[in-house]
Amino acid sequence: MNRLEGTVSVVTGGASGIGAACAQRLSDEGAHVVTFDVSDGVDYVLDVRDEEAVASAFQSIMVAHGRIDSVVNAAGVIGGGPVHMLDGDEWDRVIDVNLKGTFHVNKHAALHMLAQGWGSIVNIASIEGIEGTEGGSAYNASKAGVVMLSKSMAIDYGRRGLRVNCICPGGIDTPMLRSITDSEGMNLYQEKLREEHLLGRFGEPSEIAAAAAFLISDDASFITGHALVVDGGFTAGLRVGLLEQMGM
Ligand SMILES: NC(=O)c1ccc[n+]([C@@H]2O[C@H](COP(=O)([O-])OP(=O)(O)OC[C@H]3O[C@@H](n4cnc5c(N)ncnc54)[C@H](O)[C@@H]3O)[C@@H](O)[C@H]2O)c1
Repeated sequence: MNRLEGTVSVVTGGASGIGAACAQRLSDEGAHVVTFDVSDGVDYVLDVRDEEAVASAFQSIMVAHGRIDSVVNAAGVIGGGPVHMLDGDEWDRVIDVNLKGTFHVNKHAALHMLAQGWGSIVNIASIEGIEGTEGGSAYNASKAGVVMLSKSMAIDYGRRGLRVNCICPGGIDTPMLRSITDSEGMNLYQEKLREEHLLGRFGEPSEIAAAAAFLISDDASFITGHALVVDGGFTAGLRVGLLEQMGM
C-alpha cells in the first residue's frame, strides 16, 4: 500500500518499540518520516518535555519540507505505583513525559497544521487510560489525559481540517513491556497478563503501527476524536475459563 506517498510524517519515540514500528510502517507506505526521541538513532534527539526543542524541531521540518501531514506521538515512559507509596517526583516524571510531552508535540504540530489547513495526529494512549490497572496511578492518569486531550483537539480543530485520534494498545511486546514482565519474580504476572488478552498473546508493535497508518491515512477520512482500542480483546470482557470446563 502507498497510502502516504508524498506526505511528511513526524513520529516521536521513534527509536524503539511502537514508535520505531510506526516509523517503519509509514515509510513503507510512502511517507517521508522524521523521527524524534530522547535516545540516539533518530533525526531529532530531543526530550518531549522541552517545549523549545519540540517547537524548533517542527520549525526546521517546515523549513526543510514545507509541510507536516501527520504526527504519531509514541514517546512515553512507564511508572507509578499505589498512590500512598508514590513520591511526587515519580508522579511528575510520568505526567511530564506522557501528558505534558504529548501536549507539546500536539501544540507545535497543530500550529503548523492549522496554518496549512490540514493534518492528522495519532497519539498513543493505552487501555490503561480507559480502564485502570492495579498500581497504575500516574501512568493510568497520564494516558487518560492523552485520550481526553485527543478528543478535545478533535472538537476544537475538526472545522479547521485537522483530525486527531488516539490508539489504546493492550500489552505490546516492546522493551517497555519487557522491562516489567522480564524482571525478577514477574513470571506469574507475565503469564496472567498475557492470558487477559483474549487472543492469548501480547501484540506486536507492527500491529499498532498498522492501526496508526490507517488512522492517519485518508482511509480514515471521517474518523476523528476516536480512541481506537487495539488490545487483542483485553477490554472486551471477562474470561474465567467456563468454556474449558464445558470441554471446549
Ligand atoms: N508496550 C506496551 O504494552 C504499551 C501499551 C500501551 C501503550 N503503550 C505506549 O506506547 C508508547 C510506546 O511505548 P513502547 O512500548 O514502544 O516503549 P519503548 O520504551 O520501547 O519506546 C518508548 C520510546 O519513547 C522514548 N522516550 C521516552 N521518554 C522520552 C522523552 N522524554 N522524550 C522523547 N522520547 C522519549 C524512549 O527513548 C523510547 O524510544 C508509549 O507511550 C507507551 O506508554 C505501550
